[in-house]
Parts: sequence; C-alpha cells; structure tokens
Amino acid sequence: MEPPQQCLLILTLILLSTTNPTSHSSSTTLDPKQLTALQSLNIPTTTDPCTTTTCDNSSPFRHLLTLNLSNCPHHLQISTTALKSLFSLTSLSILDCPSLPLPHFPSPLSTNLRSFLAINSLTKLSGVFLSHLTHLTTLTISNTTINSTHPSIILNPMKSLNSLTITQARLNGLLPKHWHINLTHIDLSHNSLYGKIPTSLTRLENLQVLNLSSNGITGVIPNSIGDLLSLQKLSLSSNSLSGTIPESILAMPELIHLDLGSNQLNGTVPMFISEMDNLKYLNLEYNKFHGIMPFNESTIKRFIVFKISGNNKLCYNQTTISSKLVLGISPCDKYGLPIPPPPAKDSLSDGSTSRRSSKDEDDDGGDVKSDPDMNDHKGPSKVVLGVAIGLSSIVFLIVFLVLLSKWCG
Ligand SMILES: *[C@@H]1O[C@H](CO)[C@@H](O)[C@H](O)[C@H]1NC(C)=O
Ligand SMILES: *[C@@H]1O[C@H](CO)[C@@H](O)[C@H](O)[C@H]1NC(C)=O
Ligand SMILES: *[C@@H]1O[C@H](CO)[C@@H](O)[C@H](O)[C@H]1NC(C)=O
Ligand SMILES: *[C@@H]1O[C@H](CO)[C@@H](O)[C@H](O)[C@H]1NC(C)=O
Ligand SMILES: *[C@@H]1O[C@H](CO)[C@@H](O)[C@H](O)[C@H]1NC(C)=O
Ligand SMILES: *[C@@H]1O[C@H](CO)[C@@H](O)[C@H](O)[C@H]1NC(C)=O
Repeated sequence: MEPPQQCLLILTLILLSTTNPTSHSSSTTLDPKQLTALQSLNIPTTTDPCTTTTCDNSSPFRHLLTLNLSNCPHHLQISTTALKSLFSLTSLSILDCPSLPLPHFPSPLSTNLRSFLAINSLTKLSGVFLSHLTHLTTLTISNTTINSTHPSIILNPMKSLNSLTITQARLNGLLPKHWHINLTHIDLSHNSLYGKIPTSLTRLENLQVLNLSSNGITGVIPNSIGDLLSLQKLSLSSNSLSGTIPESILAMPELIHLDLGSNQLNGTVPMFISEMDNLKYLNLEYNKFHGIMPFNESTIKRFIVFKISGNNKLCYNQTTISSKLVLGISPCDKYGLPIPPPPAKDSLSDGSTSRRSSKDEDDDGGDVKSDPDMNDHKGPSKVVLGVAIGLSSIVFLIVFLVLLSKWCG
C-alpha cells in the first residue's frame, strides 16, 4: 500500500476532467456554418448568438432555433447558402425589411419552421411560397403584399395551424371552405376577400378570435355562428353583410368583443344582447337598424365601448335614457319613431364629433398579438444556471481536495 501514489493518480484524473472543455454540452459553440450565415445577414456574432436567441443542445455544435431579422440594411439579400445552413430554425421573424427580396427556402428549413412572421417586409411574397411551410402552427403576415392567390392555396396544406394572421396583404379571393380544426385565432382583416361566411368556419370549436373586418364579405351572418362556443372576439365590421343579428349570438358564453359596425345589417337591435354578461365592447354603428334601441342607461354604462350612431331609423326612449348620454341617434317620439333633429346648422357636426370620439377608442383590439421576444427570457436564465453549476463544482472540488490532502498527509 502506497497512499501517496494513489493520491497523485486521483489528483491528475480530477485535473484532466476539469480542464477538458468539451465535457459539458453547455460549453459547445454554434455551428460555424450558421455563424457565417449570421454574419452574411449583418448580425453581430462577437458574443455567442445562443445567449440572445434560442439554440438546441446538439454536439459538437449547437444550432439556432429562432431568428429575428429587423430593420434590415437596404441592400440586404439572403443567400440560398445561408438559408441552407440555417435549416434548424423553427421560428423566423422578419420585421420592417420592406425591400428584402423573398429568398428560396430549401426543403429542410421550410418543413422545420413552426412559426413564420413577416411585418412590413419582403418583396414578392407569394401564396405558393407560403403553402410550402406545411408544418406552421403560427403564421403572421401584416402590411406585406401577397401576390394574388386564393387563401385556400395558402391554408390547405397547413394542417397544424393554430394562429392565422394575414392582414393588409391584398389577399384576394373567396373565404376558404375548409378550415383546420385546431385554429384558435383567425385574423384576415383588411384584405379583398369576398363571398359569404362559410358555415364550415363556425365549426371551429377552439376558435377564440375571428376578425374578418374590412373585406368585401356579403350575405347574412350564419345562424350557426353561435356554435363558436370559445369565441371571445368577433369582428365582421366594414363589410357588406345584410340581414339581422342572429339570436344564436346569445349562446356564446365567452364573447367580450362584438364589432358589427359599417355593414348593411337591418331589423331591430336585439334585447338579448343586454343578457350577455361578459360583453364589454359593442359596435353596431353605421348599419340599417330601426325601431327603439332596447337598452337602458345602466346597461349601456356596463359596456366599456358602445357605438350605435349612424343608424338613421333607430331612436332611443327619452324616459329611460337621459339626453346627456351622447349616442349619436335621435330620441323616439310617442310612436317609437326617430324625432328628426332640428335643422340647426350644427346638427350634422354633432354626429360626426361623436363618431370621431368613438373612433379614438378603436385601437384597443391590439392586445392580441404574438410575442416574438418571448424566447429572450431563456438566455439570462441559462447564464445564471451555468454560473451556479460552475460555482458549486468549484466548491465541491476544493472540499474534495482538502479531504484528499488530509487523507494523503
Ligand atoms: C405575381 O407574380 C407573378 C410572377 O412572379 C407576376 O407575373 C405577377 O404580375 C404578380 N402578380 C401580382 C398581382 O403582383
Ligand atoms: C390538434 O390539437 C390536438 C391537441 O393539441 C393534437 O393532439 C392534434 O394532433 C392536433 N391536430 C392537428 C391536425 O394538428
Ligand atoms: C333586411 O335586409 C334583408 C336582406 O337585404 C331584406 O330581405 C329585408 O327585407 C330587410 N328587412 C327590413 C325590415 O328592412
Ligand atoms: C336595465 O335593463 C336591464 C336588462 O334589461 C334590467 O335588468 C335593469 O333592471 C334595468 N335597469 C333599470 C334602472 O331600469
Ligand atoms: C319609454 O319607456 C317608458 C318607460 O319604460 C314606456 O312607458 C314608454 O312606452 C316607452 N316609450 C316608447 C315610445 O316605447
Ligand atoms: C380587427 O382588425 C382590425 C383591422 O386590422 C383592427 O383594427 C381591430 O382591432 C381588430 N379587432 C379585433 C377584435 O381583433
């Protein structure tokens, strides 16, 4: 037995294992091909990109999972070589790069992507290009023209889509007949879509937001709209919808936001709306409703936003609603017909000021949006974890060495 020699052996083993840098996955670096690709995109790589964005943990090299491009330099182009090496991305966001030409996405990348976002970016974006991103769960295109294709060409192949936003994209065509059942969010506002609201759309039992505003949609609101039991926000405003408000709307327990403004809807304003306890935003302005507006003052004050102006044949009961509440409609006479406003010089501007003041509240719909920066939180927490592991292993090593030296001595 020669304890000193054993001690030496153990010590050298410890030293070897602690000085070998590749023994832990956290110390592997980014794939050099991806580093080159990032540099070609003007993204600084002096600090490890994996500290600011999400990477996988593969070895010997890690790979990027997310990439956010924004405010690109004017002449930036994305080469096919760069995109080939960025095959590992699952999320790609392009923000404010309006002159960036759309590159070709090689196949591993196009099928790996789960999330694709383009806001005010890309020239020559086409529906056929988007249709190749078959595994997307989130698609967001805004303020970016999509070269004319039917929306169904884009959407049919995306069988896993949860969240669909294509707004201000000049999307042109009929509303698709086939929808994937897992959709929770549909915003196709501000395009040139036309045709009727297909009843297939009302079978999406997980749908929480449906925004088809500012299109050319015609026909009636289907009675089956009430089958959307998860729906929280419905906007069909600024279309050419006609007919009445279907009573089935009462059956939507989660509805908090109902915007039917600027259509050709007629009939009376249904009393049952006052029974919808969760409803906080109601816009029925600029339609063709007639008769007595059925809500009393306390019901109206329950809404955060209530818009009813621009319905010439609609009036309010002066005994239940004080004229101090500016609604933008006339009071009723004893027969329930609107009393024409006095031909005073200011009668027109009254209506338009009430409209303008209510338009100011229009912007509250912006709370539903994807958050591309969410992944940033992973960076700092990984650093903290690494430091903690490092510190504790040093402490452990010192304790071990002290014990060892006592034993050896
Ligand atoms: C769509 O793209 C094709 C081919 O790139 C082009 O010929 C056509 O003019 C484009 N259409 C529109 C509406 O931009
Ligand atoms: C829909 O969602 C469910 C539950 O999240 C999932 O099991 C199913 O695979 C999804 N369907 C499609 C077509 O992605
Ligand atoms: C409401 O509009 C529909 C469709 O445009 C029409 O057939 C109906 O007569 C209108 N009803 C009233 C009361 O104006
Ligand atoms: C206002 O209308 C609601 C719903 O119809 C009713 O429950 C409430 O009692 C009314 N309030 C007043 C002050 O008349
Ligand atoms: C206005 O409301 C009062 C009180 O509820 C009612 O007696 C009256 O008939 C209503 N007026 C009209 C025109 O319906
Ligand atoms: C619907 O889309 C319009 C236009 O893009 C937007 O202003 C509005 O806030 C949206 N409404 C909802 C409920 O998301």
